[in-house]
Amino acid sequence: MTDRINQIIENEHKVVLSHIMTPDMVNFSGTIHGGHILHFLDQTAYACAVKYSRYNVVTLSVDQVLFKKPIYAGELVSFFANVNYVGKTSMEVGIRVVAENLKARTQRHVMTCYFTMVAMDEYMRPCAVEPLALETEEEKRWFKEAEMRKAVRIDAAAKHKELKK
Ligand SMILES: CC(C)(COP(=O)(O)OP(=O)(O)OC[C@H]1O[C@@H](n2cnc3c(N)ncnc32)[C@H](O)[C@@H]1OP(=O)(O)O)[C@@H](O)C(=O)NCCC(=O)NCCS
Repeated sequence: MTDRINQIIENEHKVVLSHIMTPDMVNFSGTIHGGHILHFLDQTAYACAVKYSRYNVVTLSVDQVLFKKPIYAGELVSFFANVNYVGKTSMEVGIRVVAENLKARTQRHVMTCYFTMVAMDEYMRPCAVEPLALETEEEKRWFKEAEMRKAVRIDAAAKHKELKK
């Protein structure tokens, strides 16, 4: 356990944020309101991208936020973030969301989603970020997958622009 915590603290491209779900976060269906989860996701992506780049960052896009399973008040929700990809100025942060029932000691994987964050200089212009060092086979695979998702995003944005003409 200590090894895992040290790995996250020492690793400049990883962060974990955990939040307890309180009754004031509940929606009219009695489960946690998606807006709260979106807020925590954005905070986590921000923390991860700033920690890696050491620049201020802005959120450019969010993909694969799917609320397929509800989250309940009283659960501890952890957001495990990793910088998967670095281009020139943009970074893809992958976030694995795990909800934990503390009394039953059970965990559920709720979603994995992807944030594109852009590093900004002091004049609020996109600025270059250190390239990502890929050490493990898993990191190489995540990078490749993120690169493919970026191409899909750029293609989708271009097609959307065409449709709007
Ligand atoms: C983020 C922002 C600065 C990017 O501006 P831009 O004019 O697209 O800048 P660039 O063309 O230099 O692109 C910046 C990076 O984003 C990437 N990018 C741009 N459009 C993209 C898209 N549709 N999909 C994926 N990546 C994209 C570019 O490839 C580039 O990455 P790279 O340098 O790693 O190759 C600008 O869109 C912005 O200020 N957005 C508002 C951000 C904000 O306020 N967020 C909070 C939400 S309210």
